[in-house]
Amino acid sequence: MNPDNPSANPIGVFDSGVGGLAVLKEIRRELPGEDLLYVADSAHAPYGDKTTRQIEARSIAIAEFLVSRHAKAIVVACNTATGAAVETLRARFSLPIVAMEPAVKPAAAHTKTGVIGVLATSRTITSENFAKLHQRFGADVKILMQACPGLVEQVEAGKLSAHETRALVERYVLPLFEQHADTIVLGCTHYPFLAPLIREIAGAAVTIIDPSPAIARELRRRLSSAALLSAGPPAGSVRFWSSANSETYRRLISGLWNAEIELQQLPDSPEKTAV
Ligand code: DGL
Repeated sequence: MNPDNPSANPIGVFDSGVGGLAVLKEIRRELPGEDLLYVADSAHAPYGDKTTRQIEARSIAIAEFLVSRHAKAIVVACNTATGAAVETLRARFSLPIVAMEPAVKPAAAHTKTGVIGVLATSRTITSENFAKLHQRFGADVKILMQACPGLVEQVEAGKLSAHETRALVERYVLPLFEQHADTIVLGCTHYPFLAPLIREIAGAAVTIIDPSPAIARELRRRLSSAALLSAGPPAGSVRFWSSANSETYRRLISGLWNAEIELQQLPDSPEKTAV
């Protein structure tokens, strides 16, 4: 870390597991020169099963780790952690914190039928953040909220096109079309990895909205206004940690990231962290 030049420090990104890699890819595309740190808290995934207090505790522990690695900004690449913990993180840490928001606004602007579907974890759908979005846009369009238990687990297991995954996606997505949804919001960062399957089931006429590119642009804006954009080099580095480090998991991340990676054990391991 360079205390005289904080813009040279890395950006920290975390998720309950591998879902945030979808956001990390967009950050890499938007900000190719930045050094990136990624934490997958897979020993505790899915967060959807945890209490608010547990998700807050994990989010704080991971943010502290990222700060100890000199992160200049943190991206909460998890809708569930955003809903449960972002206020706590913002109150506790003074660095820029960019968080997810289900892309209800662009979906509402895009729909022709006036019906949009939001796929998310049960926790996100019942979160206060989501209730606010519903209040804001629900008068103009019909918002069908679809909780998708099991999908995070399928992605964490690397089963992106398995028979059970397809059956779950069909169960969650087909009823939305029966109710005339023409726009689907991916409200969980694990779901972009299922987008090809969702597209196959939904057909070409349906628009699938992934908020990840908008999050990466928001990160650029936040860094720019805090004078924290890195001046170079042209290709930044990326490092990966997981609370569930194993060769299987390293291979899963390598596959999703499209490059062989080195995976390190998150020092604040599950055994030491009360959840
Ligand atoms: N990727 C997380 C999200 O965006 C998954 C949540 C979970 O682990 O339940 O919500």
